Amino acid sequence: MCGIIGYIGNKDAVPVLISGLKRMEYRGYDSSGIAVMNDSRITVEKRVGKIVELERAVHSQSLPGNLGLGHTRWATHGSPSEANAHPHIDSAGHIALIHNGIIENYVSLRQRLESKGHEFRTETDTETLAHLIEDAYQGDLLEAVQEALAQVRGTYGLAVICDKEPDKIVAARMGSPLIIGVGEGENFVASDLAAIVTYTRNAIYLEDEEVALITADGIKHRTLTNHMVEKTVEEVTIDLEEIEKGGYDHFMLKEIMEQPRTLEDSMRGRLLLEDGTTKLGGIREYIDKIVAARRIIIIACGTSWHSALIGEHMLEEFARIPVEVEYASEFRYRDPIVEEGTLVIAISQSGETLDTLAAIREAKRKGAITLGICNVIGSSIARETEAGIYIHAGPEIGVASTKAFTSQVTVLALLAILVGRRKSISAAQGRWMVREMKKLPQYVEKILASTEHIKEIAERFKDHRNFLYLGRGYNFPIALEGALKLKEISYIHAEGYPAAEMKHGPIALIDKDMPVVFIATQDGTYEKVLSNIEEVKARDGIVIAVCCEGDKEMAAKSEYLLEVPRTMNFLMPILSVIPLQLLAYHVAVLRDCDVDQPRNLAKSVTVE
Ligand code: G6P
Repeated sequence: MCGIIGYIGNKDAVPVLISGLKRMEYRGYDSSGIAVMNDSRITVEKRVGKIVELERAVHSQSLPGNLGLGHTRWATHGSPSEANAHPHIDSAGHIALIHNGIIENYVSLRQRLESKGHEFRTETDTETLAHLIEDAYQGDLLEAVQEALAQVRGTYGLAVICDKEPDKIVAARMGSPLIIGVGEGENFVASDLAAIVTYTRNAIYLEDEEVALITADGIKHRTLTNHMVEKTVEEVTIDLEEIEKGGYDHFMLKEIMEQPRTLEDSMRGRLLLEDGTTKLGGIREYIDKIVAARRIIIIACGTSWHSALIGEHMLEEFARIPVEVEYASEFRYRDPIVEEGTLVIAISQSGETLDTLAAIREAKRKGAITLGICNVIGSSIARETEAGIYIHAGPEIGVASTKAFTSQVTVLALLAILVGRRKSISAAQGRWMVREMKKLPQYVEKILASTEHIKEIAERFKDHRNFLYLGRGYNFPIALEGALKLKEISYIHAEGYPAAEMKHGPIALIDKDMPVVFIATQDGTYEKVLSNIEEVKARDGIVIAVCCEGDKEMAAKSEYLLEVPRTMNFLMPILSVIPLQLLAYHVAVLRDCDVDQPRNLAKSVTVE
C-alpha cells in the first residue's frame, strides 16, 4: 500500500517524482522520500508526514539529476520515522531502493548480513534488500537484484538504482503491482497508473517474478531466473480528471455524489429489459458452471465483505445456491473445505488486497472455480481469477469505500438475476427486477438531494462518542457498513448489529446519550424492526431511522428520519447505505477529520 515511482530520462527527476508521489498519496502517507542520481552520486531526502513536507524539503535545496526514485510509505515494519522511510541504502551508500510489500524472512537474512559486516540503520524489512543486493553485486545491478531476490521470501514491488551504473533502474515484482510507463527518451516505473499518466499513456504491466532493466531509451524484461520475457505495451484509457476531486472538497464526497453515474456505468449494456435478465460478458463461458455450483463461498475484506453479505442473500434467494461469506484472512489459513462444484468469488475494489489474493490462490489450489468482482482493471485479483465481472465504478481515491460498495452490490444483483433466471425467477419477475435496477440511478439522485438535511443531523450528533446501527435481512449488512463508515472517518465508536440481536447485549448500552440508527425499510421484517425501535425508545435511546419515503409510522416513532425511495427488497441496500455514507461524511468534516486519508488506514492493503 505504499506508492512507488521511478524516473529516468531528460527531465529534472525531482518534480516528476514529487508529482507522482502526490497522486499516490492515498496509497500510504505516513512518510516519504526520494533518491536522485547526479554525477554518479545518489542523494536521498526523506520526511515524516505528508508529501508536502518532502516537497518543502526538496524545494529549499538544489537537487539536479535526470534519474530518481520516490516512495510514499504506510508503515508495516518499524514506526513512521525518517530513518524508516524509503529509499533505503546499502552499507556503502552505492545502492538506493524503494519497496512495497513485506519481506517475510528478513530477520534471518539480516542476521546473516550483519555477521558479514553489513551495518543496518533502520527497523525495516526493506533495508535488508539493499544490503542483500550490495552483497550480491559484482558489477551488474540486474544480476545482483536477481541473485538477491532468489533468497527472499515475501512480496515486493521494487525499484533499485546504483551509482556505479548511473543510467538504469532495475524493477521487480512479486505480489505487489508495478507498471512501467513508456515515454520518448524517458521511462517511468510506478506502483500506480495515476502517478505516470500525465507523462505517458503507454504502459507495461509487470507480472510476478519479472524483472525489468529500464534505461532512458529502452526496457529489457527478464524473469528472476534470467529468461527473456516478451511484453506488450498497452494503451491507458483512464482519464486523469477522473482521479481528481472534480470541484468537491473531498474525494469521498465526490465519490458519494457520483453514484448515479457509477451505478449507470456498472449496469451499462448489462440489463436485458425484454428478456428480463442480465448479460455479463466476463463470465459468459462460466455461466453453466455457476448455475451448476453446489456451493458458493464469497471472500473479501472490509467494505467488500459487507457487499458479500448482501450477495449471499441475493444469491440464496434467487439462484437458490447455498452461499457462505468468509473474511479472506480467515479463509486462507484455516484449510477450508472446497469440494467439487464449489465456486469461490473474490470481491475487491482494488483487486490488490493481499489476503483476498492469497485466499483466491488457496481456493485454486484446492480446485475451486474462481471468479473476481473487482474495480481496478488488470489488477492482480482480476488477473488471477478464472473469470470475473468488473464493477466499472472508476478510480476510488477516498480511503473509505462508497461508490465501489454500491457498484459491487449492483453487480451482485446482476449476477443473482442472471443465475436466478435459470433457477427460480420467471420472465415476468425478471423483467420487473431489471426495470427496477434501471431506476436505481434516479432513486440515488433523489437521496443525494437531501445532503443538507443530513448535515443538520450530523451537526446534532457530531460530539457523541458512540453509535449503534441496527438492521435486519438485506439491511443488516448496511448496519455494519454504516457503522464502519462512521468509525473509519470520524473516529466515533460505532457498532452494527442485526436488530433482533440487540437484546442479547447492546441493549445494555442504551440510554439518553446513545443514538441508534435503524435501517428500517418496508421489507418482510419491518414490523419486527418497529418493535426493536420501541425497545430503544423505552430506554430513552435516540432513534434515527433510514426508512422509505412517506413512512408515517416511522415518522411518528423516530426523532430523525433519513428517507429513501422504495424499491424491491433486494435493491434496498443500494439506497439505504447512501444517507449513512453522507452522515458519516458530514460528521467527520464537522469534527475536522481528514476524511480522505483517515489515520492508520490505507486504501489498498497489500500486506497481511
Ligand atoms: C481497506 C480499505 C477499505 C476496503 C478494504 C478492502 O481496508 O480501507 O475501504 O474495503 O481495504 O479492499 P478491497 O480493495 O479488497 O475492496
